[in-house]
Amino acid sequence: MYTSLNCCIIEVMHLKEIFRKKRYSIEKDRFPRKLGLLDLTFLGIGAIIGAGIFVITGQAAALYAGPGIVLSFLLGAVVIGISALVYAELCSAYPVSGSAYSYTYVTLGEVLAWLVGWNLLVEYGIATSAVATGWSGYLRTFLEQNFGFTLPKMLSGAYNPSAGTFIDLFAFLGTLAVFILLTLGIKKSATVNTFIVFLKILTLVLFLIFGITHVDFKNLEDFFPYGYEGVWRAASLIIFAYLGFDAVSTVAEETKDPTKNVPRGLILSLGLSTLFYMAVSFVLVGMVNYKELNVPDALAYAMFRVGNPLVGNLIATGAVITITSVLIAMGLGFTRVVYALSRDGLLPDKLSAIHPKFKTPYVSTLLGGIILSFFAGFIPLKVLAELVNIGTLFAYFMVGIGVIVLRKRGEVTPSFRVPYAKVLLPINLALLLFIMAGLPKETWLRFIIWNIIGLIIYFSYSFKNSKVLE
Ligand code: ALA
Repeated sequence: MYTSLNCCIIEVMHLKEIFRKKRYSIEKDRFPRKLGLLDLTFLGIGAIIGAGIFVITGQAAALYAGPGIVLSFLLGAVVIGISALVYAELCSAYPVSGSAYSYTYVTLGEVLAWLVGWNLLVEYGIATSAVATGWSGYLRTFLEQNFGFTLPKMLSGAYNPSAGTFIDLFAFLGTLAVFILLTLGIKKSATVNTFIVFLKILTLVLFLIFGITHVDFKNLEDFFPYGYEGVWRAASLIIFAYLGFDAVSTVAEETKDPTKNVPRGLILSLGLSTLFYMAVSFVLVGMVNYKELNVPDALAYAMFRVGNPLVGNLIATGAVITITSVLIAMGLGFTRVVYALSRDGLLPDKLSAIHPKFKTPYVSTLLGGIILSFFAGFIPLKVLAELVNIGTLFAYFMVGIGVIVLRKRGEVTPSFRVPYAKVLLPINLALLLFIMAGLPKETWLRFIIWNIIGLIIYFSYSFKNSKVLE
């Protein structure tokens, strides 16, 4: 009797330990601080604007929201906007690598932090692979239309012998190339990214300038063909278009003056992207009837449809080039989360080794590159892409609770604070749940299974190897 009671007490003590909290002290010169505000803003835009606007917007308008997609984007902007402010506050308090994972570790404790990190791996990792697959589709069409080059069927799709496809070669090689670039150095990656983001903005501006003259208000008359529910469902889907702003906060340890530059970079990149989304989605559904937009290249399609193939081709080319920056930023986010999990002992040590010359976490970068290239090449990721949304919204939710805890504790004074917090913080949590509720049941089921696997790894490896007390 006495022994079993003793056992129970020890178990409960252990159970408490899973909520142990990390106190970060940033090791000097682990990474060189090379990134400034401009790099961060461009990194953010590079991560945010991609397959979401180029691929998903048209489909979400056609299948869920109709012209009401503009309001779905507005709803998405409000939800994600408040989350960005929350990130900004936490990041100014704890300018460390690891983003939502690290913020949860200091505020809510280890097991929840692990789950957030586990979901961020999906956000960045699966999103990288999914975006690569979308990009590969654009590239194949581009090469066919402009150069008459057709890739053999067996190399142009995920592994599916009955359909005659074995590997999506471009998605595989594209992902691999991005991770090799990321291994070579953060500044090189940021410079390539900045160039690509310029092209991306140019592509969208081109669409707006030529598109606005073709807006026909007749197309907007039936504004809510699927009712308000459609706007909500579309918002759960197009939230994908906003994901990635948090990649900015994963590189805090590589940023000059991070407590100021990271919050500013987050807010600037999300603000600018939102402006583009509202304008582009409005012009898109104004140019073409929403029913026609269930195509993989909606923006280019709309231009062809109104009789401007030249601009249509330019936009398709711009999309091919510029979606790569999402790969860079998401890939970067993935490697930095793996790095942070490993540095804290929750994943094996080797994964946080820094390359002596390139100063990048090269083991996690190369390993991530190999695994994610295989995902991109061999696995059809359509369904997994929904996992990306739910996993990320979960991370935003935990961060939303984390900031409330941070304020209650009052140990650190962040240089940035969410304005009107008493109102905005509860609204943030409610809206995130509301958007998550709009995702299909199967997505919820996969999310639960993924997290059960995460917990098994946590209890069998991470809990014992954690360096939380060091
Ligand atoms: N926001 C990123 C995109 O739209 C993931 O591609």
